[in-house]
Amino acid sequence: MSDKMKTIGVLTSGGDAPGMNAAIRAVVRTGISSGVKVKGIRCGFAGLLDEDIIDLDNLAVSNIIQTGGTILYTARCHRFRELEYQKKGAEICRKHGIDGVVVIGGDGSFNGASKLAEQGINTIGVPGTIDLDIACTEYTIGFDTAINTAMEAIDKLRDTSESHERCSIVEVMGRTAGHIALWTGIASGSEYILTVEEYKGDIQRIITKIQDRRRMGKKNHIIVNAEGVGNSNEMAKVIEIATGVETRATILGHIQRGGNPTCKDRVYSSAMGTKAVELLCEGKTNRVVGYRDGEFVDFDIQEALAMEKGLDPYLFHITKKLTTI
Ligand code: ADP
Ligand code: F6P
Repeated sequence: MSDKMKTIGVLTSGGDAPGMNAAIRAVVRTGISSGVKVKGIRCGFAGLLDEDIIDLDNLAVSNIIQTGGTILYTARCHRFRELEYQKKGAEICRKHGIDGVVVIGGDGSFNGASKLAEQGINTIGVPGTIDLDIACTEYTIGFDTAINTAMEAIDKLRDTSESHERCSIVEVMGRTAGHIALWTGIASGSEYILTVEEYKGDIQRIITKIQDRRRMGKKNHIIVNAEGVGNSNEMAKVIEIATGVETRATILGHIQRGGNPTCKDRVYSSAMGTKAVELLCEGKTNRVVGYRDGEFVDFDIQEALAMEKGLDPYLFHITKKLTTI
């Protein structure tokens, strides 16, 4: 263990994700078992600047592994983008005896973590976002739960869509990334999957396909639309007018961010929380935990942020065989 690491802080930042609590629990329990005190910083970087800091012990994190949300709350904090507030954040850490911080969040939060590291506070990022849009890792906390939630919702929609012989547009989250749409579209056997990465705005192509399939006897159609692609209600109107097929849009929204984490989310979040504390105790800083090729690994934050990620090419390839588009 590093001589310097006496107390670590943990915060959650950006959009919440099921499994964050499992990660917090792992940070606390690994820290305590390594002889380190753990403090919870509530409401992300905003809570750090407001000194909303609490002591965490083993009891404080009992009974949370199965819960969604984050017991530490989360927030977006624009002030922290400014150097003045990054310095203030580091001073507050020192005032509270915090030598290292685990930041659980997405790419934005990793930028914040890196800024804190520049101010002399050791920081480790843990990827927490339902969007799976962090390039250095094949797993992000919450994605597995979110896609299962969306898949179950689409299964339900298919029942009613089929009964009414309708077209249903289901909007899933992912403003800038189509991973949720791709996975849930495949898993629910959807006829069309629209992602920000691949959809070129050619709604006429969808309309033509629906008309063709109708003629062939297909009664209902499910279109999974990633949030960033465009307004699902508007698309539904255009499709209904052009095809004459009753069309409804359903926006799944924030229910995808809630709920009890799946087994995978609990286990991987636990592993990542533990790994983050181990890295801090080894004296590492400005690193982010990832999962690649079956292993929990870590990367320099700047290198991780510079990586690029697209949709899984093979999964995209199979959609061409399994869906209508
Ligand atoms: P996510 O972490 O899910 O990507 P955001 O992009 O909203 O979510 O970022 C979360 C928070 O991280 C921001 O509200 C801000 O406090 C902090 N942050 C984001 N970008 C920076 C930056 N460039 N410098 C410092 N802090 C940042
Ligand atoms: O980053 C996760 C995410 O759920 C995105 O898919 C979505 O675009 C965004 O957060 C919504 O964030 P907010 O909490 O601001 O509505």
